[in-house]
Amino acid sequence: MNVVFLGPPGAGKGTQARRLAERYRVPQIATGDILREAMASGSELGRRAKAYYDRGELVPDEVMLEVVANRLRQPDASGGFVLDGFPRTVPQAEGLDRVLAQLGRRLEVAVLFQAPREVLVRRLSGRWVCRARGHVYHEVYRPPQVPGRCDHDGSELVQREDDRPETVERRLEVYERQTAPLVEYYRKRGLLHSVDASGDEEEVSRQVEAVLRQAGVV
Ligand code: AP5
Repeated sequence: MNVVFLGPPGAGKGTQARRLAERYRVPQIATGDILREAMASGSELGRRAKAYYDRGELVPDEVMLEVVANRLRQPDASGGFVLDGFPRTVPQAEGLDRVLAQLGRRLEVAVLFQAPREVLVRRLSGRWVCRARGHVYHEVYRPPQVPGRCDHDGSELVQREDDRPETVERRLEVYERQTAPLVEYYRKRGLLHSVDASGDEEEVSRQVEAVLRQAGVV
């Protein structure tokens, strides 16, 4: 399973990528998660990424490509992957094709998550994540059992720095300008499949499975 999830912030890519990765035992490779871990640990990558991340802008392509190329070479990704949040620009998509070709592999499907802007904003403004490991909640759609605490590890739930309203606006603009052109990139290659991401988690999950079956991936 060599799959990419595309779509605007808040469309539910991370939520569905996690489910799929668990079900099919392939790694979820989420570039946003990798960057948040790097920033939390204060690594060189985290220091380089922070200013871009905090403004809701994209980290430079060459930085992200190196991160993903290294991750795809790890043994656990040899049987497949769900890439979540990468690629985000045409140069990243071209770079991904090159890396996969070097590994003797190719992308099988790009799933585009589509939802109206008001749905995206509602999801992002109500999202809470656990401080320890980034487990994701929503105050209405996926509330934790104990308010303010992660169900998995009991750690404190916090809001993401880039989920502030002004940064969300910027991220949505950046998506339209830099990432939306990827839709054409994958459509031309016959890899694009869209799902209506505005339904509940189960409904979207059913659509993702249907798309993967239709594409012959599962
Ligand atoms: P990243 O972390 O990738 O953020 P994003 O793409 O903006 O996506 P989100 O994580 O906000 O949303 P999602 O679609 O995963 O939604 P989720 O499942 O969490 O990137 C952050 C930043 O890192 C970027 O701005 C950039 O600076 C940098 N970056 C990352 N990758 C990069 C790259 N390749 N190149 C350059 N820079 C890069 O769901 C959202 C909420 O909705 C949750 O609360 C969830 O519980 C809820 N929810 C999910 N699905 C449903 C549903 N069906 N119904 C109701 N609620 C739902």
